[in-house]
Amino acid sequence: MPQKIYSENSLLIERRIFGDFGIFVFDTQNIGKNALPGQFIMLKLDDEKDPLLARPFSIFYSENNRLALFIKKVGRTTSKLFSMNLEDRVKILGPLGNGFEDKKDKVILIGGGSGVAPLYFYARKYGFLRFIIGFPTYIEGLFENYFEDAEIITEDGSYGKKGFPTDYIKDTNKEIIYACGPLPMLKALEEKRKYSLENTYVSLESMMGCGLGICAGCGVKRRKEKGYFRVCSDGPVFPFSLIAI
Ligand SMILES: Cc1cc2nc3c(=O)[nH]c(=O)nc-3n(C[C@H](O)[C@H](O)[C@H](O)COP(=O)(O)OP(=O)(O)OC[C@H]3O[C@@H](n4cnc5c(N)ncnc54)[C@H](O)[C@@H]3O)c2cc1C
Ligand code: FES
Repeated sequence: MPQKIYSENSLLIERRIFGDFGIFVFDTQNIGKNALPGQFIMLKLDDEKDPLLARPFSIFYSENNRLALFIKKVGRTTSKLFSMNLEDRVKILGPLGNGFEDKKDKVILIGGGSGVAPLYFYARKYGFLRFIIGFPTYIEGLFENYFEDAEIITEDGSYGKKGFPTDYIKDTNKEIIYACGPLPMLKALEEKRKYSLENTYVSLESMMGCGLGICAGCGVKRRKEKGYFRVCSDGPVFPFSLIAI
């Protein structure tokens, strides 16, 4: 695993907004240099007491000093990020977590909403068999500029195919699936792949406290035995056969 780096002075150097989604690129003093797809960072707004805690975000891509995040505006940190100016600073710790194993281009990637972030990184670094992403509706500029090679599914059919990403996969044992997205999408995936969960891996976007395995604030139930995994330090990527959501 790449060494964790804490960058007190991560500078916002690029920002592209697409409705409630945004791509934010930071100069992070090498945090992203050896990061793996599926790993995440903890981001804390500079000198902000509200929110007090850092928030986890998957790495969307990284090149040299540049670390990009794909963020959905949902609450306090993300809203403040959307109103930040270039050259503003945040604190970033990472890379954290295990990430997706490199299975080259043998994998079907399935992402929903902000969950496309770690899969985009995988797709760019290792390739893919299919890359299927789902959003509620068309988002101008986003699909055309970043997801040209993905199969796009919108709930209302306003772009690509209509429905949910899980409508467009079959349950076969041999295909490996890497997925990340909202709970209903993961539940639908679990149902669809009930006979091949061991070939299905999910990255979980749970609530987190410390992000470092200390506070026990990110537990996910074990499927086969009693107890919990810690999403931050045991995951965030898990074989679906081991966890109960
Ligand atoms: C490993 C990991 C990777 C993630 N990657 C991304 C990413 O790439 N892009 C992205 O946009 N988000 C990602 N998230 C989710 C992100 O961390 C949360 O949305 C975060 O809480 C937003 O912070 P906020 O301060 O803006 O919202 P808050 O003010 O903390 O919360 C806003 C509202 O959302 C609820 N909420 C917060 N987090 C979650 C959650 N995980 N599930 C359900 N409800 C929640 C809160 O209860 C509250 O009602 C990831 C989470 C994890 C654990
Ligand atoms: S967030 Fe603290 S242990 Fe996982």
